[in-house]
Amino acid sequence: MLNDKRRTPAILWDGNTLSLLDQRLLPAEERYLTCEDAPSVAAAIRDMVVRGAPAIGISAAYGVVLSSQQHGGDTAAIHADIETLSGARPTARNLFWALEAMSAVLERNQSLRACAEEIHRKDIANNEQMGQLGCAYLHESSGILTHCNAGALATGGYGTALGVVRAGWAAGRVREVFADETRPWLQGARLTAWELMQAGIDVTVLADGAAAWLMRQGKINWLIVGADRVAANGDVANKIGTYQAAIAARFHGVKVMVVAPMTTVDFTVAQGGDIAIEQRAGDEILACGGTPIAPQAAKSWNPVFDVTPADLVDVLVTDDGVVEHPTTEKMATLQHI
Ligand code: MRU
Repeated sequence: MLNDKRRTPAILWDGNTLSLLDQRLLPAEERYLTCEDAPSVAAAIRDMVVRGAPAIGISAAYGVVLSSQQHGGDTAAIHADIETLSGARPTARNLFWALEAMSAVLERNQSLRACAEEIHRKDIANNEQMGQLGCAYLHESSGILTHCNAGALATGGYGTALGVVRAGWAAGRVREVFADETRPWLQGARLTAWELMQAGIDVTVLADGAAAWLMRQGKINWLIVGADRVAANGDVANKIGTYQAAIAARFHGVKVMVVAPMTTVDFTVAQGGDIAIEQRAGDEILACGGTPIAPQAAKSWNPVFDVTPADLVDVLVTDDGVVEHPTTEKMATLQHI
């Protein structure tokens, strides 16, 4: 079974079967959904059963393995499934990176299963590595603000942003963590709070709009977030609300750390304005947990990611090293994968 040691990993793979923790149900219920084929993996990604850029990429890679198990040597059918998987969500670079890697393996007639398992294994390893790299920046008794969920639930391992938090907590450098609730899917309230409480890490949930005021109280030293895609100049696409949190951080002298593996960095995109930002249905805004909270005829706007300009990023932690105050020139020193 390729998974980490946590009680409820997001992705379970036993060599033949893919089971995904249904994150729509957390924290009320811990239930796994078994995916039988690639289209069901694509649906699970689109419908937010599994989410978070690295977890999406790993799941898609296993989706290609399921496709090959179903279709055998029919490469046209496997390519069609890869196409379906690539349409699941547009912003996470990891999805496209994983499918490109799997397509190359398919072309070379090599083992798709070995490639998917390697993608998963590497993600577990790079989480630990980035955790240590990011932890080195934290001073004793740091207060951390995080946005969305960039933890074990969003990766194959123990998380990117929350990997740094876990390493910092273990080293006695993290005093407490504040989790923005992260409207509209509430990844902060539902997932980050659940995950950090499981790990015994002190966490407090706040409304997204309270973050700047919290910084004003002097309680926050670092804003630490993950990323869905990092452009060649260091601009960062991440969950909607990251940009305003980063602006508030700069105003209050709070440092901003972005933690993302190289599988999230996209050197083909020069700057953040060129990143495709997913727009989801307006009813995600007009309702909360299925309960209408606004006039149903109201107009709504639901971009689910935004772009934080590289200027607002103090530290970008990758598994290929750390870039302080990223620029195109500094980013180019990272190893292209
Ligand atoms: O819509 P989601 O829940 O997939 O958005 C997830 C995020 O924005 C995460 O911060 C990002 O994918 C990094 S996960 C390590």
